[in-house]
Amino acid sequence: MNQKVLILIKPDGLKKSLTGNILTRLSETKLEIVAAKMVRVSHELAAEHYKHLKDKPFFDELVRYLQGELHDRKKVMALIYWGKDAIQKCRGLAGATNPEEADPTSIRGSYGRITTKGLYENVIHVSSNPEEAEREIKLWFDPDEIIVDLYPAKEIEVPPAKKRVWA
Ligand code: PPS
Repeated sequence: MNQKVLILIKPDGLKKSLTGNILTRLSETKLEIVAAKMVRVSHELAAEHYKHLKDKPFFDELVRYLQGELHDRKKVMALIYWGKDAIQKCRGLAGATNPEEADPTSIRGSYGRITTKGLYENVIHVSSNPEEAEREIKLWFDPDEIIVDLYPAKEIEVPPAKKRVWA
């Protein structure tokens, strides 16, 4: 079944210069990248992304982590992979969420760690199921940032607003 999946290379992955390694590993899936961008993550975006975890004791630290507050790298790389069994294939390569339980040859097993505060720094996020993938993709991307139509979209009139252009 064709699926789409949101991948985030988290600030620790960027700080450790792992972008190339991670993309090379993910290319083994032969999936298609249909969107990619660097994102400066606001508190609001990080909290919304992890909203199902808001009652967990590690929630505030998790939000700070995704914002890059723990790594002096205030950005993440967001990508959408698309193709047959995309979620299962990407999660397989990523390995278990807990980097200590992840297969040592997986991305998280190779590069992740658990901080002394107990936070998983696992270098990559991968959507867990099709419903979460849809929620996350719509949170991180606008329709026009994706080169195929993944979900129904509509056109709306946007009132004139200021925007930055090249000087
Ligand atoms: S999963 O695998 O995404 O379905 O897991 P889920 O339970 O939904 O997501 C948990 C996310 O919180 C991050 N995190 C931790 N989880 C559990 N325990 C600790 N201590 C912890 N620290 C951080 C975990 O990495 C999951 O985020 P992602 O971005 O999915 O890796």
